[in-house]
Amino acid sequence: MSDARFHLAWFLNFSSPAWNGTFTGSDGATWTDGRVHVEMARSLERGGFDYLMLEDSSMVSDGYEGSSRVDLKYGLYAPKHDPMPLIPLMADATRHIGIVGTASTTFYPPYLLARRMSTLDHLTGGRVGWNIVTSSEDRAAQNFGMDTLFEHDHRYDRADEYVDLVTRLWESWEPDAVVKDAATGTFVDHTKVHTVDFDGKFFASRGPLNTMPPIQGRPVICQAGGSPRGRQFAATHADTLLASAYGVEKMKAYRDDIRARRADLGGDPDSVKVMFIVSPVLGETMQEAQEKADAMAADSADKVEAALGHLSALTENDFSTFDLDAPVPTVTTNGHRSTLADFLSLGEGNTRTLREIANAWTINSLPLVGTPDHVAGLMGEAMQEVGGDGFLITGKPNRRYISEIADGLCPELRRRGLIRDGYEHRTFRENLMAF
Ligand SMILES: Cc1cc2nc3c(=O)[nH]c(=O)nc-3n(C[C@H](O)[C@H](O)[C@H](O)COP(=O)(O)O)c2cc1C
Repeated sequence: MSDARFHLAWFLNFSSPAWNGTFTGSDGATWTDGRVHVEMARSLERGGFDYLMLEDSSMVSDGYEGSSRVDLKYGLYAPKHDPMPLIPLMADATRHIGIVGTASTTFYPPYLLARRMSTLDHLTGGRVGWNIVTSSEDRAAQNFGMDTLFEHDHRYDRADEYVDLVTRLWESWEPDAVVKDAATGTFVDHTKVHTVDFDGKFFASRGPLNTMPPIQGRPVICQAGGSPRGRQFAATHADTLLASAYGVEKMKAYRDDIRARRADLGGDPDSVKVMFIVSPVLGETMQEAQEKADAMAADSADKVEAALGHLSALTENDFSTFDLDAPVPTVTTNGHRSTLADFLSLGEGNTRTLREIANAWTINSLPLVGTPDHVAGLMGEAMQEVGGDGFLITGKPNRRYISEIADGLCPELRRRGLIRDGYEHRTFRENLMAF
């Protein structure tokens, strides 16, 4: 019998959770110590999540109006902490859940990344993952001494080589190199630790790594490329993919495409788990959930401004210069190509205005509104049609929302046999690949 189970992941920012609502408490003041995020990790583990993904970027954006006003007013890109130091704190408070940190191949030196990930894999007991991004903004590049970011596809070419190098560094120690032989007083057998002598087109490193290889061999590799070049990169390297696709048909097409690319590369299509972005809206009753969803979808000038601030940052087109009450003019980007394409597709052949699109814009693959029982049913049906592998839940979190998912939706999914009931393996990779 085929396994009907799917995986769950959560997209998390190391920034303030929702802070100015009725049920948001004081987290807007205290989030900086990371404790609320650690509590979220515990809740998600209780829910049976495979992993949480800590996103990252490194800029204060002035993409909108040529000013940081909107970015900072809504806390879109800043303030945000470095996610890497949070990983061991989360690991210490949990036992099973995988924890994925984001690091950019454009800005992190490969040796540093290989060493950091290896260290984190040991600190988490084999539960770390790396979300590989190439970064998308000139403003971020300028914080690292560059004038502009490399061209979109070129960034992925560099990233391919980068992954080859860090993999070689992780493999520079043979698994049985540490002998701890008391008789000879030998801690490590030096004949089992090798230089890598990597001399590529973009990167060079002598090696070996000066720490031991990761417990998992290599951390779980996570990726979110949506363009053709991004998908090829993901199909080559990723164990799990974060994907936005509107509706079951597009979700299926996306997953089929990734699986076909993996197979064409000689890999096993089941070895890449595609996670679709959703933001379930839950209530005690269908009516309560629908009222919540309606309130979230209501037109609002703040929502339009924040959406356009966000899009301006990640595409570096200043959307404040466009007429809100006209269709969107033709725009291109060297940043997030697929995100821009998704946004523009909401224009339905230029029949909707920029204001309407910005009001409607959510990065959400499926509308999931209702009681936990109803939403669990929708998720199960969607996964059957798509073929697998799981969902990435997003949304500005607060403790109440996390609990609705972990303590409301997850038990319903588990009762139906749709998500894991416990963690059968020690490492993140083994659990992720278990079904
Ligand atoms: C769910 C999700 C999470 C992402 N997280 C990050 C991130 O943390 N940092 C980042 O720079 N880019 C992030 N991205 C952007 C992707 O790495 C990629 O640049 C984007 O999806 C566009 O890919 P494309 O240019 O191949 O279409 C994320 C994208 C998605 C869909």
